[in-house]
Amino acid sequence: MIIAVDGPSAAGKGTVARAIASRMGYHFLDTGSLYRMVGLAMLRAGKSGDDVSAAAGFAATLDPASVRDADLRNEDVAAMASKVAAIPDVRAALLEFQRRFARQKPGAVLDGRDIGTVVCPDADLKFFVTARADVRARRRFEELRGQGHKVSLEQVLADIEARDARDAARAVAPTVAAPDAIVIDTSDLDRHAVLARVMSLVRARN
Ligand code: DC
Repeated sequence: MIIAVDGPSAAGKGTVARAIASRMGYHFLDTGSLYRMVGLAMLRAGKSGDDVSAAAGFAATLDPASVRDADLRNEDVAAMASKVAAIPDVRAALLEFQRRFARQKPGAVLDGRDIGTVVCPDADLKFFVTARADVRARRRFEELRGQGHKVSLEQVLADIEARDARDAARAVAPTVAAPDAIVIDTSDLDRHAVLARVMSLVRARN
């Protein structure tokens, strides 16, 4: 059983994907963390986002331990991840790992941007979890403030919109719902309502 959960940042796809995996006993992969690991390596090496060969090199030799690096969730790492994610050689280097992960028994849930379209086009179930940009910005703003970061709502919205535009406009594997994906708009739903809806669809497939 392979379940794809795609969508833009801060729409709630991580919450959805983790909940499915833990309730069903499936493996879970946050594929954004792979792009973030490349972004973090680029920043630490002082490379610019258009250094294609450096990014491809880091993607081909990812250090698995860096998945636990606290800096992975930083906004500058997110912005760099979105830049390196547009580089075809970076995506190609990460593709086989994601596909191998997806084939694990008894099932796997992968969250990202292109799981239902490119990584696992034959996934058994595909969700596209989205929400309006202003709602996603407010959630991200509250999360950042809760962690003690001094940010403004306007800046968080601007960052989200810039990242959305870059992720949706890129030539390779842009953020787009697969034609057979179930679209869940979380703008006006709370976490419980979203999970109830998703889990009833997952259970109907089992
Ligand atoms: O989901 P996230 O915010 O952790 O993702 C970080 C960046 O990685 C995001 O801006 C786009 C990119 N990404 C991607 O291109 N494809 C994926 N499957 C997952 C993430």
